[in-house]
Amino acid sequence: MCGIVGYIGDRPAYPILIQGLKQLEYRGYDSAGVSLLGEGMSVFKKKGKVSELENHIGNKKLLATAGMGHTRWATHGEPNDINAHPHVSNNGHLVLIHNGIIENYAVLREALTREGYTFTSETDTEVFLNLIEAYQNKEKLSLADALSMALSQVVGAYAIVVADDRNPDVIVAARKQSPLVVGMGNDEYFIGSDATPIVRHTNKVIYLKDNEIAILDRNEGVTIKDSKNVVQKPHIEEISLRIEELEKGGYEHFMLKEIHQQPQTVSDCMRGRLNNQEGWVKLGGMEEYGGLFENAERIILAGCGTSWHAGLIGEYLFEDLARIPVEVEYASELRYRNPVIREGDIVMAISQSGETADTLAALEHVKGKGAMIYGVVNAVGSSIARLTDAGSYIHSGPEIGVASTKAFTGQVTLLSMAALWLGKRRGTISSSRYRTLISALARIPEQIAETLKVEDQIKYIASEMTAYNNSLYLGRGYNFPVALEGALKLKEISYIHAEGYPAAEMKHGPIALIDENMPVVVVATNQSAYDKILNNIQEVKARKGTVIAIVSNGAKEISKFADHVIEIPETAEPFSPLLSVIPTQLLSYHIASLRGCNVDQPRNLAKSVTVE
Ligand code: G6P
Repeated sequence: MCGIVGYIGDRPAYPILIQGLKQLEYRGYDSAGVSLLGEGMSVFKKKGKVSELENHIGNKKLLATAGMGHTRWATHGEPNDINAHPHVSNNGHLVLIHNGIIENYAVLREALTREGYTFTSETDTEVFLNLIEAYQNKEKLSLADALSMALSQVVGAYAIVVADDRNPDVIVAARKQSPLVVGMGNDEYFIGSDATPIVRHTNKVIYLKDNEIAILDRNEGVTIKDSKNVVQKPHIEEISLRIEELEKGGYEHFMLKEIHQQPQTVSDCMRGRLNNQEGWVKLGGMEEYGGLFENAERIILAGCGTSWHAGLIGEYLFEDLARIPVEVEYASELRYRNPVIREGDIVMAISQSGETADTLAALEHVKGKGAMIYGVVNAVGSSIARLTDAGSYIHSGPEIGVASTKAFTGQVTLLSMAALWLGKRRGTISSSRYRTLISALARIPEQIAETLKVEDQIKYIASEMTAYNNSLYLGRGYNFPVALEGALKLKEISYIHAEGYPAAEMKHGPIALIDENMPVVVVATNQSAYDKILNNIQEVKARKGTVIAIVSNGAKEISKFADHVIEIPETAEPFSPLLSVIPTQLLSYHIASLRGCNVDQPRNLAKSVTVE
C-alpha cells in the first residue's frame, strides 16, 4: 500500500528521496512526506501527490545526506497533512515512516496516554513510534533494540523505517508481512518498500525477511538481525529488472498485477476480522451499530458497475445467512427515484473509489430518511467513507487498472464476513454452519492462489476467443452475478460485446443468438444447481455454441459436453464467487491483451466516475 524510501550515504538525500517517491506513487497518493537528518532533523509533509510535496518544499537548500520518504495510502485517519508520514515522537528526536496496520494500536495508545504521551494524529503509526521512544527512555536502549522491544508488543503487519536525530549516521528498518528491500551501493545504502526507488542507484539488494531488522550505518555498513537479536548473514541479490517493469511489479499491466495480488488483498481484508482458530468473525463498524443491524427490516445495497455486482452477491449472502430481505440498487437509479426508505432500513453503499458521483448522490438522497448508512469502501477518507454513519474498509490497496478486479473480491469478502457476523448475531445460522463457513472463508486466499494456476490454460482459450465479436456468460444462484461481472470485464477492456444472464433465463431470449459464432462461458461451480446447469450446457451445445465451463475440481459430467473445462478448487457455495470470478478476470485480460487493447486505460472509461 504505502510507499517507503530511505537513504544514507554521502550524497544529498532529498533528490534521491523525492525521485524514489515518484516511482512509488502507484502505491498510494493520499499524502507524501520526507524527513532529512543531518544537523538536527527536518520534516516536510503534504496531503496529496508527491508533486504537491515538491511544490511545498520549493527551492529550499536541503543538503543532509540521510533521510526517509513516504507516500501514503491511508488506513488509519483521513488523508491530511497531520496524518501524513513521517511522524515525530513526543521528545522530538525520533522520526518514523510506516506501511501496514498496527492492529492493537488502540490499547497501546491508551497505555501510552496514561504514561503522559500525547498524539497529534489519528494514526496507528504515531502510537508505535512513541512506544519505541518509551522503551528508549525507560531502558536506555539503542534505537534498534528499542524498536525490537516495541515490535514484540505489536500485532499486525508493518514495514517501518525509523531514525534518531541524535545519531544521524544510522537508519533502522524492520518488516513483517509487508515488503522491504535494502539497496547496497558504494558506501551508501537505500531502503525501499520495493526495489523501484533503488534500481536506478544499485542493482544489489537484500530482501528483508519477516521479523528481521536492518541497521543501515553510514560508517559500518548494513547489519541484519532476527527478532532474537542474532546477526544474520545477508543474502545480497542482483536484480536485472527495468524501472518501468518494476512499477507494475514486473507485470505487463496493472490489471494483471492486481489479479495476481488477490491472495494477498483478500487476506488483508480478513486480517483482524476473521479468526479461524478461535472461530469468530467481527467487523468493528457493524458492531458499533449491532442493535440496528440485528433488528434491521431490510438492507439496501447500492453501487455502480463492478461494485453493484458485488452488491448482488451480497443479496444472496445476507438473505441466505442472516435472513434479512435485501434489495440491490443501481445508485444512479436510486438517486432519482422516490424510494420508500424507513427507519429500520440499512443502506450499504459499495464503492472502490468512494468518490463515484451517483453513489454519493444516492446516499445524500436517502440520508435523513431514517435509515442507517454504511460504507463498504476501498479508498480511506474518501467522500463516501466520510458521508456514511459507519463502515468497513476493504483494504485492497490502490487499484490502478480501470477494470476492477481485486476491489471486487475485497468487496465480496467483506460482504461475506458481514453476512456471517449478522447471521450469528441474529441466530439465523447454526453454530456448526457458522464454524464451517469461517474455515471455508479463511482458506479462500490460498485457494485463489491455486485458482490463478489456470492462467496458461486460459491464455490458450483466449487465443481462440479473440476472433469472436460476441459472447454470453451464464451462471445461477451465487454465480449469476459472476456471469454479469465476467461479461462486464470482457466488454470494458476488449470491446467484445458480452452479456451476462441467469442460466435459466437463456431460454427466454439469448438462446436465439446461439450458433457456432457464440462462445458461452458457463460458471458452473455451484453444488446446488449443478444438474440444471448441465442441462443449460447441453442446450447450448445442441445449437453448436462453444462452451467454456468453469467448474469445481472433479466435475466430470460437464467435461463430456463442454469444449473447455476450467477446473478450480471447491469451496462452500456462498464463497464460490471469490474463486469463480478469477478465471473470468484472466480470460478478459488475455483476450484484451491479445487484441492489442489498452488494458489499464480502456477507451472512454475512467477509474473513478465523479460526474453523472
Ligand atoms: C467505474 C469503474 C468501475 C467501477 C465503477 C464504480 O465505472 O471503471 O471499475 O466498478 O466505476 O466505481 P466505485 O469506485 O464506486 O466502485
